[in-house]
Amino acid sequence: MRDEILIAPSILAADYARLGEEVKAVEGAGADWLHLDVMDGHFVPNLSFGADVIGALRKHSRLLFDAHLMCAPVDQWIEPVAKAGADRITVHAEAGPHLDRSLGAITALGKGAGVALNPATPVGVLEHVLDHLDLVLILSVNPGFGGQKFIPYAADKIRQVRALVGGRPIRIEVDGGIDPQTAPKAIAAGADVLVAGSSIFRAPDYAKAIAALRPAA
Ligand code: DX5
Ligand code: ZN
Repeated sequence: MRDEILIAPSILAADYARLGEEVKAVEGAGADWLHLDVMDGHFVPNLSFGADVIGALRKHSRLLFDAHLMCAPVDQWIEPVAKAGADRITVHAEAGPHLDRSLGAITALGKGAGVALNPATPVGVLEHVLDHLDLVLILSVNPGFGGQKFIPYAADKIRQVRALVGGRPIRIEVDGGIDPQTAPKAIAAGADVLVAGSSIFRAPDYAKAIAALRPAA
């Protein structure tokens, strides 16, 4: 049997003027991880926040900090984000020519390493780095913005990654357009960490929104 399904709210959709309170609220509402979308305005056409904001939030939360770096080049951000308190650091396979080096830098800092794949990136790029990975992040939207629609073929990619991962203890995370309608599709395909921004932070009741993403008992 697979591990339990984890819910990782993305603060990209939170109220930035009340970020500490928002993080405490999702923690109290049953979040398992906190997803931190770092955008550099170059790899993706948007800016979000960096290591200083992650470090400030670290003092307000005991959740596992799951940093998703949408940055190219990415290597210069790995150490600051690790020192700020991220527990998992995920880099994009498309961010540069030296994926193996970036993953080595993450694990050398004692952090869990992840690879993220944009919707059009084939899963084969993971093949030779599987033994260095703690997680694979499948983008089910084109990254850069919250509130987009789940791309249906992402479910096929999750299935392919599940087969590739085999018995290794690697989490498969899905990110983008996750709501109570799309979550069961991602879970059925083999995802075990669900990132959700809008469907949690735009809901009136965070606990209900998080519970609505978990598989029915
Ligand atoms: C997309 C980000 C996501 C985003 C998801 O660029 O990586 O983490 O916050 O937002 P929703 O859940 O609104 O699609
Ligand atoms: Zn993300």
